[in-house]
Amino acid sequence: MALYAFLEIFLIPICVICVCFLTFRAHKKSSVPTNWPVLGMLPAVLQNSHRIHEYATEVLTESNGTFEFKGPWFSNMDMLVTSDPANIHHVLSKNFSNYPKGPEFRKIFEILGDGIFNADFELWEFHRKATLSLMTQPNFYSFLEKNIWEKIEKGLIAVLDGFLETGVEFDLQDVFQRFTFDSICKLVLDYDPQSLSLDLPYIPCEKAFNGAVEALLHRHILPERIWKLLKWLQIGKEKTLMKAWKSFDEFIYPRVSINDGVEKDHEEYGFNLLKSFKRKYEEINNSSSRGDSRDFLRDTSLSLMLAGRDTTSTCLAWLFWLLASNPSAEMKIRQEIEDELHEKEDKKWRNFSVEESKKLRYLHGALCESLRLFPPVALEHKAPIRPDVFPTGNYIPENKIVLLSFYSMGRMKVIWGKDCLDFKPERWISQRGGIKHEPSYKFPAFNAGPRTCVGKEMAFIQMKMVAATVIYHYNIEVVKGHKVSASDSIIIQMKQGLRVKLSKRNLY
Ligand code: HEM
Repeated sequence: MALYAFLEIFLIPICVICVCFLTFRAHKKSSVPTNWPVLGMLPAVLQNSHRIHEYATEVLTESNGTFEFKGPWFSNMDMLVTSDPANIHHVLSKNFSNYPKGPEFRKIFEILGDGIFNADFELWEFHRKATLSLMTQPNFYSFLEKNIWEKIEKGLIAVLDGFLETGVEFDLQDVFQRFTFDSICKLVLDYDPQSLSLDLPYIPCEKAFNGAVEALLHRHILPERIWKLLKWLQIGKEKTLMKAWKSFDEFIYPRVSINDGVEKDHEEYGFNLLKSFKRKYEEINNSSSRGDSRDFLRDTSLSLMLAGRDTTSTCLAWLFWLLASNPSAEMKIRQEIEDELHEKEDKKWRNFSVEESKKLRYLHGALCESLRLFPPVALEHKAPIRPDVFPTGNYIPENKIVLLSFYSMGRMKVIWGKDCLDFKPERWISQRGGIKHEPSYKFPAFNAGPRTCVGKEMAFIQMKMVAATVIYHYNIEVVKGHKVSASDSIIIQMKQGLRVKLSKRNLY
């Protein structure tokens, strides 16, 4: 074991560094990695690990959208990476039953346990039905609407006005993450941790998500043996992941246990997500012998919290960064708010309903552009049960990892045209002025096929309410010299956050 550890910790990195250097010299012009003996293409990936999504886009562009990655020998890291819409459609919809997430996915995402993201087959069907049946309850959207406006008024506006008064610079991405964390906790656990308060309290569970999503991408890049060794040694990103795991458990278990005892629905709205999950769990548990219901509720809650916190806040942060360099688009959003939401004689701000949020078409287009250029879930991971052939002709043996790069898709001229890198909300407006529909295999920010995101509508409602409030009330200026880049993580957050300064708009 000691010799093994020595080899993996010292010799492999030394080889990798040497080979990185050679790779760099030999391949200045082409991004396509060299397939080295023993190490496969890993050196090029490690060399570009600080810009992995950009690098994947360069390689895929040079390879017509589909690329065979060769991992080090005996590492089980060979993968087929694709951003071709026909392949995406094939994997996510047409041949869905052949592409579960697979055992490798479950190993990487072990922290999510039996939650929906890790689940395949019957367990996934159970989660999917249960989650959808809760989200389609008649009172779900009125409950959501009330929660969002409360958080906007008591949390978001209070905190932003606080920054306005002191004139300090702050991280807008952090504010959005706190907003979505509080909102999703309220929805899932019926508990608002109030992380979005004037003193910006440190709540370990809230911050733990950032480290966890980075470590989870790392597990995609490193051979399994190496990340398992790092986990065993409790160093690097694996240490961060284990700390995050502890923070999640300490935050969620007590709430799940409390909710276990709660036998009362929200009287006003008839909605209690955890209680409904517990009931459903007991139903299936009568016929099977799954473990402790608290573990199951912990896994279910954590998955929904991850889905609800990181995706929406990331999209909002990128939207404001994109608007900062596209002031005319911001003007159009303000105009749309005035035209569509205000009574003619009364220009004052008021809350708007879920129904009214649908009138904000230009804002919808701007959010879609943010999702196209920076899809929060940057990649999807699958493994076929049976051998298959992609529409592009690539053969895939059973269990080979297939990576779908959603990030690269938004940046392909062949998919979005020559102006694919430009921010153009108009792209999403039809000739008749409605919202233009793009097929999900071309725009898979919310996934496609039977595993399409169940929170899509909820996310748009929340993002529109938050974005419209901020855009209408404040001028946002990105701090000069602040560098922005996408994090190397399964959720493309901003690596250095979004440092901004606020000024109040003169409205009335
Ligand atoms: C901008 C916001 C959002 C984006 C871009 C997004 C994107 C996605 C994507 C790409 C997936 C597929 C992930 C995978 O299979 O590995 C997914 C699944 C899912 N999302 Fe979202 N999501 C968003 C917001 C939300 C919200 C607010 C919720 C509510 C809690 C939510 C709940 C879910 C659930 C439960 C799944 C699993 C669906 C399944 O496997 O059948 N999402 N989402």
